[in-house]
Amino acid sequence: MLALKDLTLFLQCPKCGHANLSLSGSSLKCTHCGSVYRIVQGIPDLRVGFYGCRPTLWKLFYDAYGRFYDILEDAFASKVGFSEKLLRLEIVKAMELEGNNVVLEICTGTCRNLAYFSKLVDGTYIGLDASPGMLRQCFKNLEENARVGLVLGFAENLPFKDEIFDRVLIGGCLGHIALKKRALEEACRVLKPGKTLIVYDQTTYLDRISGKVYKTLENRPSELVLKSFRYLFRRHIYTAKFTKVIS
Ligand SMILES: C[S@@+](CC[C@H](N)C(=O)[O-])C[C@H]1O[C@@H](n2cnc3c(N)ncnc32)[C@H](O)[C@@H]1O
Repeated sequence: MLALKDLTLFLQCPKCGHANLSLSGSSLKCTHCGSVYRIVQGIPDLRVGFYGCRPTLWKLFYDAYGRFYDILEDAFASKVGFSEKLLRLEIVKAMELEGNNVVLEICTGTCRNLAYFSKLVDGTYIGLDASPGMLRQCFKNLEENARVGLVLGFAENLPFKDEIFDRVLIGGCLGHIALKKRALEEACRVLKPGKTLIVYDQTTYLDRISGKVYKTLENRPSELVLKSFRYLFRRHIYTAKFTKVIS
């Protein structure tokens, strides 16, 4: 796992946006506004603001579901005609990872993507999720020496510095995020210019005929230019790839 002192190099205070969070005992302290954030089992809790009422239900759901997530998602994937392994392969291809990339997965869940990526390509990987129950499962999926750091936080208020990641992935969750536009703005803020954001998610027949996917993705910052959009696995999943243009 990534050492906490290395993880703090990427962090900023989610309350004041100041970039100096220092380690003090079992917490992180913002040297600018004085806010203190707990570190539980090596994971800093930087959940601040947003996350309205609907997502609270999602959070409760995922906290309880975390333990069964991997087994049930595998079963769901094979029922609709693909496998989790095939999905990860497609995602890793789309990510075009290069050695030494710094990669963020927003809504990393049980870290199955990051566990897979970190075995394939050397780099620094950071997973953010709102649910402690899901993040706890990451320790089962990740190899001990993987350079992966975990952060509790909200997609709508990322506790990371501006323009610090080479790749950002929003996987299997844009549909659940309450403030989708805000989450896309945050993903864009933390991505380096010229680098790639990948979004993938499940779709239903209704999502497709109502144009819901396009509407969600259209509502993004103008710096994010769509490079490709594809349906996978008989249209159960879509992937969209964006480049952040230099503004
Ligand atoms: C279906 S799981 C996806 C996990 C993983 N990306 C994958 O593909 O296996 C969705 C995750 O999104 C997280 N989530 C939902 N809304 C969130 C938000 N606003 N901020 C951060 N995480 C959120 C949930 O806690 C859950 O772990």
